[in-house]
Amino acid sequence: MRACVLTWGCQLNVHRSEEIEGVLERAGFRIVDRPEDADVVILNTCMVRKRAEDKVVGRVGELARLKRKGVLIGVGGCMAQGRKEELFKICPGIDFAFGTSDISLLPELIERARAGERPAHFPAPVTLEPLPVRRRSTFSAYVTVAEGCSCACAYCIVPFVRGPLRSRPLADILDELVGLAAAGYKEVTLLGQNVDAYGMDLKDGTDFALLLRKVSKLPIPRVRFTSSHPAYMREETIAAIAQGQNICEHVHMAVQSGSDRILAAMGRGYTREDFLKLVERLRTEIPGVNITTDVIVGFPGETEEDFQETLSLIEEVKFGTVYVAAYSPRPYTRAARLPDSVPREEKARRLKEVLELTRKNGLELHRRRIGEIVEVLVEGYLPEKGMYYGKTRDFRTVLFSGEEELVGQIVEVRVEAASPGAMEGSLVKERIA
Ligand code: SF4
Ligand code: F3S
Repeated sequence: MRACVLTWGCQLNVHRSEEIEGVLERAGFRIVDRPEDADVVILNTCMVRKRAEDKVVGRVGELARLKRKGVLIGVGGCMAQGRKEELFKICPGIDFAFGTSDISLLPELIERARAGERPAHFPAPVTLEPLPVRRRSTFSAYVTVAEGCSCACAYCIVPFVRGPLRSRPLADILDELVGLAAAGYKEVTLLGQNVDAYGMDLKDGTDFALLLRKVSKLPIPRVRFTSSHPAYMREETIAAIAQGQNICEHVHMAVQSGSDRILAAMGRGYTREDFLKLVERLRTEIPGVNITTDVIVGFPGETEEDFQETLSLIEEVKFGTVYVAAYSPRPYTRAARLPDSVPREEKARRLKEVLELTRKNGLELHRRRIGEIVEVLVEGYLPEKGMYYGKTRDFRTVLFSGEEELVGQIVEVRVEAASPGAMEGSLVKERIA
C-alpha cells in the first residue's frame, strides 16, 4: 500500500506528519508525495482559524475524484480532534478519522476502513507517545520537546485539541539529538507550543534553560527553538541562548497585541511594557538577535485605538517579521462567547496595514545588511527566481546563485540587494560546515 500525507498548520504539525509517515512506514506502507500515486491519502489538519478548516474541507472535495479509483481518504490532527464525529458531516467523503494522539493505531484504522467500516479514534490527548519518525530533510530536523499547552489564552484552541503540556524527559530528547548529530544534521529546531514552559510539568527541576545548555554542547551547528511565550521567557533562558555557541540568534515570540486592554482580555499574562522590557533584555544579552512575532487583529472589542497601539508596537520593536492573522472565533474557547465585534472588512484593513508596515520594516532591515557577509544554510532551489535560498543564523532568507550540491551545506554569501522578505547576494565561500 502507498500512502500520501498532506499537512496544514504549525511546525509541530509538520513534524507530526513525519511521525505519521514513520508509523505507516513501520507498518509496511510506501510513502509517496502525490495523492494521485497513493492508495490512502491522509490529511493532517489544523484548527487554529476557520480558514485552516475551510482549506481542508476544500481539499477533501478535490480528492473525491480519487475515491472512484478506490483510494481511501482519512482526516487526522487538530481539526479532527476538535470536530470529532461531526467531521464526517463536514467532510462527507472521508473513510476514517483520527485525532492528535494514539497515532500508532493508524494502520489498524486503515485496515478497518478497507474492510468497509468508517472508523474514528479521538482519545483525549493526555499522554506522550514515542513514535518513529520518517524525516523529510537530511540536514534540518524538527524535534518535539513538549506536546500541548496548559495556558488558557482566550482565543486559542490548542489546549483543547493538543491537550495539556506534556514535556518529554530530557534524556530522551538528548538521545534523539545525539543521533541527529551523528547522522550529520546541520540544524535542529526544538518544538513546543510554548517552549519556555518546557519541563514545568516534570517537577524534577528540568527547564528550558537546562535543555538549551545541554544542547549547546552537542556537535550540531545550528539549534533553533519555537515558540517562545513572553510571560514564560526567563533570565536563565536568555543567558543560555546568549552563551550557547550553536544556539541561533532568533526568538519567535508572539506578542498578539500592543494594547494592554486587549492583552488582558486575551489573558496573555504580560503588558506592553513587560514585552518591551523583555525585548530590550534580549537585545542587550544577544547582540543581533532577530525577534519575530505573531499578531491577531480584530480580537473581540479591539477598537481603532487598540489597533493603533499594535501598529506603534510593531514600529517600535521593528520585528524581523510579523505573522498576522485576522481573529476568528474558535469553538471551546473563552473568546468565542464574546461578540465578534470587529466587522470582516475592518479586520481585513487592519491585517493589510500590519502587512504593509512589516514589509516596510523588512526592507529597511535588509537594506542595512547590504555589504555584510552572512552564513547561510542552503535549503533548496527557487525555480521562479532561478536561485538557491537558505537562512542566516538569525532566520533571514537569503537568495543567491549556486548549485545543487550546496543544498544542506552552510555557505557564506555577500549581501548585495534587499527586498521586504529576503536579501540577495553572491556566494563567497562554498562550504563552512
Ligand atoms: Fe495557545 Fe500559545 Fe496561549 Fe498555549 S500559550 S494557549 S498555544 S496561544
Ligand atoms: Fe494548528 Fe494544531 Fe498547530 S491547531 S497551529 S496544527 S497545534
